[in-house]
Amino acid sequence: MVGLKDKYKDYFKIGAAVNVNTIVSHADLIKEHFNSITCENETKFINLQGEKGKFNFSPADKIVQFGRVNNLAMRGHVFAWHNQSPDWLFENTNREEMLERTREHIRIVGQRYNKDFYCWDAVNEAIEDKTDSFYRQSPWVRIIGEDFADYVFRYAKEILPDTDLYYNDYNESIPTKRDKIYEYVKGMLDRGVPVDGIGMQCHWSIYYPSTDLIKQAIEKYAGLGLKIQITEMDISMFAHDDNSVYKKPTEQMIELQANAYQEVFAIFREYKDIIDNVTLWGVADDCTWLDYFPVFNRKNWPLLFDENHQPKEALLRIMDF
Ligand code: GLA
Repeated sequence: MVGLKDKYKDYFKIGAAVNVNTIVSHADLIKEHFNSITCENETKFINLQGEKGKFNFSPADKIVQFGRVNNLAMRGHVFAWHNQSPDWLFENTNREEMLERTREHIRIVGQRYNKDFYCWDAVNEAIEDKTDSFYRQSPWVRIIGEDFADYVFRYAKEILPDTDLYYNDYNESIPTKRDKIYEYVKGMLDRGVPVDGIGMQCHWSIYYPSTDLIKQAIEKYAGLGLKIQITEMDISMFAHDDNSVYKKPTEQMIELQANAYQEVFAIFREYKDIIDNVTLWGVADDCTWLDYFPVFNRKNWPLLFDENHQPKEALLRIMDF
């Protein structure tokens, strides 16, 4: 069969989140269908610098090596996030000191992988989901202030002048949050902060969001004149508040999912001039974070290849155009 990445070669890169295990267990699928990878965890702050000043590059290096050998584009993920950051980063510190810690982390990581990652998610999830407030009340905001992202982007650009820097977030298609993300990034651009693009995570379900909401979000972000990437896409078989358990997906779920993938990929193709990369948050249904979240150990089937690494109906649909 033609590789997904080859089918989409005139549209955008097709990426997958990978880890040190899946670059072995899923190597054939990755090489056949994907031309971009993101480290699922290995380049997060806690994984790289769990202890102050002690960097552990070995898992990330393995993935980067796999990417180099197989000629894959690589997305860096992520410099500043409230999750998967070590406690020491936020302890016994103040604005100046934490800015310095952040700058130093970005300097060391950025220099090491300077030629490898063609873009980085500089800042992840700074916006609050609840409608009554704007900023997520994270340690970044508490210690540095609401302008912390300005510094993260500037520090990253200093070290990586040729690398595209993204602001990345989820619930990116829900109007209230979408508009806050827009305002946030627009504010940075107005202040001359070097933001190159918006990462739409796209952790969706077979029920939500609608194609209208997705289009409106892309249009809105495109209005900033920035690139857009789909950075973490998966389509869960369950609505976000549904705790049911199934041994295998029903025919109806499979159809809804195939249809959802088909419709959204058709939208992505329409916006190929601004969408640079569409990355799935995993390779096949045997390895997905959604088996543990929001219900622990509840099987989910959110990706394009099944548990036996075979193409799903969703894959066939997005190849059919
Ligand atoms: C967030 C992060 C990702 C990953 C996913 C799900 O969206 O950006 O790194 O952790 O959650 O696991």
